[in-house]
Amino acid sequence: MIKIKVSEDGRVQHLIFDPGKTLARNLFSHGFFTSTPLCSGLGLCGACRVRVLSSTPDACPRDQDVFSPGDLTQGWRLGCAHFPAQGMNLKLPLEKSTRRFAWASTSDPVALGVDIGTTTLKWGFAHPDHKTSLGMVLNPQMGAGSEIMSRLAYSAECRDNFKRLQSLLTREIQKITALCDQELPAVVAGNTAMIHFLMGLDISGLLGHPYHVAFAGGSDVRLPGSGREVFVPPLLSPFVGADISSGLSWLVQEKRASFPFLFCDLGTNGEMVLGLGPDRFFCTSVALGPALEGVGLRFGSPFGPGVAGRFEFTPRGIRPDNQDWNGLVSGSGYLSLLALLLKLDILDYSGRFIDPGSRLSGTVDLLHGRVHIQDKFYLSGRDVEEVLKVKAAFTLGVQYLLQKTSMTPERLARIYLGGALGEHAGLEDLDELGFLPKGAMHKCRVLGNSSLRGALVLAVDSASRKWVLNLPGMMQSLDLAGDREYVNANFHRHMHFEYPAST
Ligand code: FES
Repeated sequence: MIKIKVSEDGRVQHLIFDPGKTLARNLFSHGFFTSTPLCSGLGLCGACRVRVLSSTPDACPRDQDVFSPGDLTQGWRLGCAHFPAQGMNLKLPLEKSTRRFAWASTSDPVALGVDIGTTTLKWGFAHPDHKTSLGMVLNPQMGAGSEIMSRLAYSAECRDNFKRLQSLLTREIQKITALCDQELPAVVAGNTAMIHFLMGLDISGLLGHPYHVAFAGGSDVRLPGSGREVFVPPLLSPFVGADISSGLSWLVQEKRASFPFLFCDLGTNGEMVLGLGPDRFFCTSVALGPALEGVGLRFGSPFGPGVAGRFEFTPRGIRPDNQDWNGLVSGSGYLSLLALLLKLDILDYSGRFIDPGSRLSGTVDLLHGRVHIQDKFYLSGRDVEEVLKVKAAFTLGVQYLLQKTSMTPERLARIYLGGALGEHAGLEDLDELGFLPKGAMHKCRVLGNSSLRGALVLAVDSASRKWVLNLPGMMQSLDLAGDREYVNANFHRHMHFEYPAST
């Protein structure tokens, strides 16, 4: 163990670091980086930046990709790319709060819904005047990995790590419930791993085959810490969680879904449900990684003020839709940019840049294999590949579900999109990038955060609560991750910005 001097905002501490873990991981264990969207140490986001004032390690290629020569001289390094050394003195940039919340009504709220996502926690208070006060904060577990599997691996290392992740979540939930003085009917939805962390449950069944859950949901529980009673909707399979049952209850009970439908919830995990009728459902899931939530891409960011969500081609070149652009881009912004580059023939369907030569001179800046925009942003081949992998995993999951149930895209009445992608992405962009079956765009409906909407309904509506309690008996889970033969034989067909023909 090594003692390291750490200063942040004038506060100096001497902390014990484990030399076998990166600076970023050590700092997270000491309570830093809980409101920073890290990319799990892929070296893509640059959010784990630290200034090493003494015993500064040599800059590695990943540092050189992210920092300017001036920054490198000042000692800026990626915390995820370096390990502690004797005599190190670290200075951390100030963490900004990511919490956003405002009351939408002066009337007292009547119900609380919470959706715990891997990247963000979102909540809503329902008011009697039909208004909803919405809030969000970055999931404080991000420093342990931007997607579910790295968080599970981190907590499997030792009990302390598991406890740390649990208490980060329970503290956030306590802050949310404390926004209102009264104890309201409350529903907490979220993916399976997040519900397990929140409840302090054994996660070993989520770490490897045969996957299984320690808790099936569909019951009232008391939250550890506060003892507050909340309803947790059913967990439908090890990777199709309470967020999906909550979203489905809203879709089927409130929104009167058209059957047969495909419901896709896309965040760091992609969950797909095929609804053949009011009492017959199939589901599967795929790991997508955090790119759609704007995490892990060089200039990626969760959606927020100053963050670009769309791009357009103007006479002055490619421009974001945002006047006060801060150079950051959301997941949907990346999709919009890639769709635009495909249309402009600067990107081909395999994800490679095409030099436009003089065709677009003065408007598109393609330099050293990167598309540059306004000296603030560039798109590299690595970012394109991250998005392409997400697209491939997504269409693989959709095609698997349809093939295993002998369903065709043509016979679907509707495709509903929920989750991070459904909230902000443009349908035309998804269509252009091959996320949707050919000719299916007109069947698509964007739902927004269906999980949170479902949670708010389940908090007060007994018919919806009854329906969701019966849902596990109507659902059959198809294990794509366990079907290695199918994945190995088909994944490469999906690594194109096109929806592949069925085999
Ligand atoms: S966590 Fe280090 S670059 Fe993203």
